[in-house]
Amino acid sequence: MATLEIRDLHVSVEADNSTKEILKGVDLTVKQGETHAIMGPNGSGKSTLAYSIAGHPKYTITSGTVTLDGEDVLEMSVDERARAGMFLAMQYPVEVPGVSVSNFLRTSATAIRGEAPKLRTWVKEVKTAMETLQMDPAFAERNVNEGFSGGEKKRHEILQLELLKPKIAILDETDSGLDVDALRQVSEGVNRVHASGEVGTLLITHYTRILRYIKPDFVHVFAKGKIVASGGPELADELEAEGYEKYTKGGVTA
Ligand SMILES: Nc1ncnc2c1ncn2[C@@H]1O[C@H](COP(=O)(O)OP(=O)(O)OP(=O)(O)O)[C@@H](O)[C@H]1O
Ligand SMILES: [Mg+2]
Repeated sequence: MATLEIRDLHVSVEADNSTKEILKGVDLTVKQGETHAIMGPNGSGKSTLAYSIAGHPKYTITSGTVTLDGEDVLEMSVDERARAGMFLAMQYPVEVPGVSVSNFLRTSATAIRGEAPKLRTWVKEVKTAMETLQMDPAFAERNVNEGFSGGEKKRHEILQLELLKPKIAILDETDSGLDVDALRQVSEGVNRVHASGEVGTLLITHYTRILRYIKPDFVHVFAKGKIVASGGPELADELEAEGYEKYTKGGVTA
């Protein structure tokens, strides 16, 4: 069973000729089959955590470890991480002009599976996944994320998730900007992947509304660059009712 282990992770970025520490000792273990929700105030470092695990070059790991089944993830290139079974749905998915959704998905699947999927079964696989997510088939021939609406970009992330079947999926605010129907469809996609029992999910979110559809096993509060509290789904309800003040006050003065 795949296990992602993050230990005492410290991460900095270079900004305005100075180094700014953003992650200040993150500890987290995500096992295949588990769903973890991370909630926390704006700017606390949640996306930085996602990018650092995925290998974004802007973020410098200054200390700590990230391993997948004991293998050092931080030593891997970005595509090695993907092949090892890591998947990141970004908060702000990037446009890839000149690359169609259908080519992008097939190239990704080929890289991850180690061989090109057979064309006939693949076309059917994509078609079925798109129908389930109620995506217009015309999207397959459009360039990745180019001119997609916010919600369309998020659906495309879930389409990738369903087709690429990672071991560990990090979903950074995949629920933001979705209308009620899209929220349900996207959540159902995440639940289908979860039902396989083969993926561990790290769901970064601001809203408990997605947690009505996706039941997390664990909820973590992220504040000032680290996890400051962990609990079950009841913690999300507490945050909704009381906010983050209890976790953010003290320590840093404005
Ligand atoms: N490349 C960068 N250059 C400068 N500062 C950065 C960079 N990336 C992140 N930061 C800063 O690090 C802090 C954490 O940012 P991050 O995007 O991780 O927060 P977040 O918890 O995801 O917030 P949100 O809930 O708004 O998405 C912010 O103060 C942000 O401005
Ligand atoms: Mg963010």
